[in-house]
Amino acid sequence: NLPKKVKIVEVGPRDGLQNEKENVPADVKIELVNRLTAAGFPNIEAASFVSPKWVPQMATGREVMEGIARKPGVIYSALTPNMQGFEAALAAKADEVVIFGAASEAFSQRNINCSIAESIARFEPVAKAAKDHGLRLRASVSTAFGCPYQGEVPLAAVEDVVKRMRDLGCDEIDIADTIGVSTPLKTKAVMETAIRAFRIDGLSGHFHDTYGQALANIYASLELGITIFHSSVSGLGGCPYAKGATGNVATEDVIYLMNGLGIETGVDLDAVVDAGAYISQFLGRKGASRAGNAILAK
Ligand code: HMG
Ligand code: MG
Repeated sequence: NLPKKVKIVEVGPRDGLQNEKENVPADVKIELVNRLTAAGFPNIEAASFVSPKWVPQMATGREVMEGIARKPGVIYSALTPNMQGFEAALAAKADEVVIFGAASEAFSQRNINCSIAESIARFEPVAKAAKDHGLRLRASVSTAFGCPYQGEVPLAAVEDVVKRMRDLGCDEIDIADTIGVSTPLKTKAVMETAIRAFRIDGLSGHFHDTYGQALANIYASLELGITIFHSSVSGLGGCPYAKGATGNVATEDVIYLMNGLGIETGVDLDAVVDAGAYISQFLGRKGASRAGNAILAK
């Protein structure tokens, strides 16, 4: 008894592109978001309001948010590590802001330059401001399945940070496999911990595909009743502060899986393949989605 319906959050314009060395101009990002909107995603992570010294590729956030053709009902999200990011996201009319922390101290330091406890203190005013302005609030918990610097991450650490995010009033919490190391039994153990610490209907699986396990991890999560998943068109991406990590699971592969399982997504697979072909052509390389490449080869 898998869920009948899931929400796919397309993170390609943010997680997918943030690590690209070549500058991707705002108009290309805008066209990508518009094509993804046309494909039917209910939620698109479109920008990140972080320090441009840390992640230069995301410096165009405001232009992107102002340039996209918004479809009513679609949630356009932006990452906001602190109040400076929140103010920028608010000015750019983000529908949802994403605070992002980690379950490992080492990753928190490398990614956002502070301890987990300090990050929660920075998120408090962001969470409050989001509520005051009627914006949705989401939290991302990196390295929940393993850390590139410290290795194993105890379940108790995941539980602790999920509870802190819950207490900030998050509408949704993402459990992230930053470096794509999880396998299904591990995924179930981590997700069960997160479900106990939060609630099942607000939890999402954010799986990178470094070790080729992301679809298996999604299936394991479906078996637990998780109904929100993140994916990146064409499998774009990687995290600048997680060396060697590849992209998120490819959206085309996830939609193909859901279609095969009879699980409703509201997303048109051919339109995603089209968006993937567009950005792959711009980047000058073949897309990383197996399903996408198979469909293009037909
Ligand atoms: P810091 O240096 O500790 O911050 O960085 P600070 O408050 O001391 O400020 C230093 C400078 O940054 C100042 O500028 C600030 O104005 C500026 P200066 O005076 O030197 O010119 N600054 C900002 N500029 C624009 N927007 C802001 C902002 N905040 C400060 N919001 C900070 C702390 C968090 C800012 C920094 O570490 C940073 O930007 N890190 C980037 C982290 C990041 O974007 N990582 C990738 C996304 S997370 C991810 O990919 C994981 C995820 O996908 C889930 C998963 O897979 O695990 C979500
Ligand atoms: Mg990620």
